Amino acid sequence: MPLIDVKSITEDEAKKQLEYLAKEIEKADIAYYQNDEPYLDDAKYDELRHLNLALEAKFPHLIRPDSPSKRIGAKVKSEFKKVDLAVPMLSLADIFEDTEVADFIMSIKRFLNSSDDVVFTSEPKMDGLSFSALYENGVFVRGSTRGDGRIGEDITENLREIKGFPLFLDKDVPERFEVRGEVFMSKADFFALNQKNEEEHKKLFANPRNAAAGSLRQLDARITGKRNLSFIVYTWGEVSDVFWKSQVEFLDYVQSLGFPVNPYNKVCHNEQELLNSYRLLMDNRADLPYDIDGIVYKVNDLELQKRLGFLTRTPRWAIAHKFPAEKAITRLNNIRIQVGRTGALTPVADLEPVNVGGVLVSHATLHNEDEIKRKDIRIGDIVVVQRAGDVIPQIIEVLKEKRLSDLAEFSFPTICPECGAHAIREEDEAVRRCTGGLSCPAQAVERLKHFVSREAFNIEGLGDKVIEDFYKEKIIQTPYDIFTLEERNRPQDLFSTDVSLNLENREGWGKKSVSNLFEAINKSKNITLSKFIYALGIRQVGTATAYLIARHYHSFEVFKEAMCNQDIHLLISIDGIGAAMAKDIVEFFKESHNLAIIDKLLSVIRVENFDDVIATDSVFSGKTLVFTGTLSTLTRSEAKSKALALGAKVAGSVSNNTDYVIAGESAGSKLTKAKELGIKIISEEEFIAMTV
Ligand code: IVH
Repeated sequence: MPLIDVKSITEDEAKKQLEYLAKEIEKADIAYYQNDEPYLDDAKYDELRHLNLALEAKFPHLIRPDSPSKRIGAKVKSEFKKVDLAVPMLSLADIFEDTEVADFIMSIKRFLNSSDDVVFTSEPKMDGLSFSALYENGVFVRGSTRGDGRIGEDITENLREIKGFPLFLDKDVPERFEVRGEVFMSKADFFALNQKNEEEHKKLFANPRNAAAGSLRQLDARITGKRNLSFIVYTWGEVSDVFWKSQVEFLDYVQSLGFPVNPYNKVCHNEQELLNSYRLLMDNRADLPYDIDGIVYKVNDLELQKRLGFLTRTPRWAIAHKFPAEKAITRLNNIRIQVGRTGALTPVADLEPVNVGGVLVSHATLHNEDEIKRKDIRIGDIVVVQRAGDVIPQIIEVLKEKRLSDLAEFSFPTICPECGAHAIREEDEAVRRCTGGLSCPAQAVERLKHFVSREAFNIEGLGDKVIEDFYKEKIIQTPYDIFTLEERNRPQDLFSTDVSLNLENREGWGKKSVSNLFEAINKSKNITLSKFIYALGIRQVGTATAYLIARHYHSFEVFKEAMCNQDIHLLISIDGIGAAMAKDIVEFFKESHNLAIIDKLLSVIRVENFDDVIATDSVFSGKTLVFTGTLSTLTRSEAKSKALALGAKVAGSVSNNTDYVIAGESAGSKLTKAKELGIKIISEEEFIAMTV
């Protein structure tokens, strides 16, 4: 049908035209979104949509129930844009016992080498979803989730949809001003939403936290707008001018700008006051209109916060005091054995679903063989289940008096349920492991899933199900195969004996998803050192350890060489790496098949050297420092973390490799040795002067 001029169109013609547009746009949408095969170019498509809107504006009574203007606007986003967080969003260390509050205060005083009282804030720990909101010259320009702490998801549009979210700030705020806090759903709004969903036969949310997360992380921000979400602010991220001097001053300031802050925030001067604030909120938590899962204690003074600094992922100046776990009673229906990436056989309890503190629980971890024996857990038992925060639910005891007489003791398998290989337990190991190695499909598949996971190669498009299918069909058996997929998918020439994988013809796939996958794979070929180390799947090496290793060795070649030479001592000298972990790392490099996989991988990918952004331009970057004697201004740990943050290595003894010795009072043999070797010796004051 030819398109017509809106100005002169009659009502009758408009009606026909609107019908035509509804059908045409729907066809274009299906072709584009579902079949990945657009048949209209973007300009033509936009023209149709505009015409539809213009006609509807002129004849509002002709708007059809199936009008394209009622469906999702232009292009549905298939994923959130990524946001680089200039200041990472960290997490907090948890404590559960009252006595740990004193330990927390003590550790702070010890670190600061001071017996003076420290002032804290005590703030309810909101159980929602953290967000970050950046304002440029007072205008809200970007919102983000926490993501992995460094890279978040862009939720700018979603935050805009929250009632009362400030889009402009009146006062003279710093040029770049990023506030952070929590988005949450009140208990009342959660119940109302679930009731409505139930009536409409839609999905029910397990708790207010999930409801808040599900409402905020919506690709179509208009859905966020329809949910009742609330938010509060409790900290900041990137700020061009931090002029406040304490947490309390910050909270007062943001409140004056119109951001909600928690009315139960308090200032506390000692352990007792902290514990009182904890007790008060714990006792009244059921009456609060929203969920909280503990109390956050923060050092109030920013100068002190700065001196205390950070551990790998958490600040030294704050801690979360969590409320005790919640419990419920249910029946254990089955014990399933899962085989993990490292071959560990892990028992999992299938439970009769039960509500534990607002969350429906149907599985629990059973840890290992001994745990089942120790608690004498049997299939069919009535058990007490406990849930604490995000921790996987656990079975804490069996109600023996409720046990039926004929329940058999559980016997743990000695054969891998996935591949039939022997499953053995090393002496002094709690876990039983499958001996099948990579020939055990469960292990191979789990390793592949780990390899492509977000914190490793982060290959979108290779989800769990795809990995499982590709493994079964022998399309991907080792990590290397991922990088040859594109080549193997090319149409082969007539005389070749190879057959193309033809991925685009798989069910549920299309040209577009295949090309997206290849793009994601190609993008992943440049990988940071810590992600690469993590991706290798070495036992016990999580993201934090991988980061420590990367920071220490800087390049993969150096790390690999040290490991192949079994240089375990240097590894153990890294703060945060213990002997058992070091052993696992060295063992990994002893296996020739691991080295073979690494070498093949290195032929197709590029591992970036660790590059400490703050460190590269410092005088100490790349230098080896030794501290000796008593320092008077800084404590040892403070001095050490300062040095590490500036890209230095800190060694325990003086050698030819030492660049600087920092000598405090009554320094002894290390100083003598440094003098003998002609190493540069500096005082504590000089060290401090050089670090600023
Ligand atoms: S401060 C560097 N304050 O708890 C510390 N966090 O485990 C930054 N949370 O991701 C966080 N209420 O989602 C802080 N009053 C509060 C909080 C709070 C809830 C959450 C937040 C954070 C997590 C840390």
